[in-house]
Amino acid sequence: MAPGQPVGHETLAERAEALHLLPGWFRRPTPLLWPEMRSRCVPAHWRYQDVRECLQQAAHEVSTDQAERRNLILRNPIPDSDHATLRTLICAYQTILPGEKAKSHRHSPHAMRVILESRGAYSIVDGHKHPMESGDIVLTPGGCWHGHGHDGNEQAFWLDGLDVPLTHLLEPMFYQPHPDHWERVTQESAHSPMRFAWADTLAALERAEADPTGHFGTTITLPTPTMPTVTLKVCRWPAGWSNRPYRHTANTVYVVMRGSGHSVVGDLEIDWNFGDTFIAPAWQRISHRASEDSVICAISDEQLMRWTRYYRIEDLEQGGTRIDDPSGR
Ligand SMILES: [Fe+2]
Repeated sequence: MAPGQPVGHETLAERAEALHLLPGWFRRPTPLLWPEMRSRCVPAHWRYQDVRECLQQAAHEVSTDQAERRNLILRNPIPDSDHATLRTLICAYQTILPGEKAKSHRHSPHAMRVILESRGAYSIVDGHKHPMESGDIVLTPGGCWHGHGHDGNEQAFWLDGLDVPLTHLLEPMFYQPHPDHWERVTQESAHSPMRFAWADTLAALERAEADPTGHFGTTITLPTPTMPTVTLKVCRWPAGWSNRPYRHTANTVYVVMRGSGHSVVGDLEIDWNFGDTFIAPAWQRISHRASEDSVICAISDEQLMRWTRYYRIEDLEQGGTRIDDPSGR
């Protein structure tokens, strides 16, 4: 056909399809753009006591030889979700018994751990042996060898958080078992940028200034420069404290490190206690109230959302005033 010769729509569609082109003016089952964000994921809550019982049973039935990681994944309770806790994050509770070793490996996704109950467990990260004591937070940036062991006398429990769903979306997944199965310790590293000890976290919270927004409570941000997709914050919510409700475009996992309280995420009412995990998918209304003095670890993709300039937050106590929008609109 000569250039410039008019063609009917059907002919044009056929030509386009043969060239792997989709006419943008055709109606699509799913539009490319829509007015306001919506997340497929839903709010959810996992009670530590329930999970802990399952992990105790797993410790009897599954060895660390059978399972490289003896963990239970927090699956978002939507159809077809087999691994994601939120759009960008996966979390799992993990346990290890005294004397056990969870083999070393490395992978491109970034990982971190919130230690719930442990005396004597440890993580070897690139040869550095980091204690994992109750209340500690330990990082494993993508590409670092890591394995876990336990020198203590009681079963240890923690919560892992990784950006695996984001890696799946972007596709740069790489995984490698350690050639020796178990990485040798080259250095004891109690003090390391990879480990935030519980006592240091509490001291930093004591020094922290009050939250001027009223949304988050007194908060410290743990530096994660080698894990730019993950934001780690620890919040202190005194007994009786409640927040100004808000919603934002970050996906957040809350891990209860101390205390108890009540939160409402979207339509889900949550009574939380020590060790529980609950999640707030992006753009869901979030309100919290602490019953006891509480310390909460908030794992999110906030800095990823800020870097992409997708971060927005709305105060919902004043009728939805947009207070932080990098686009200026
Ligand atoms: Fe790993």
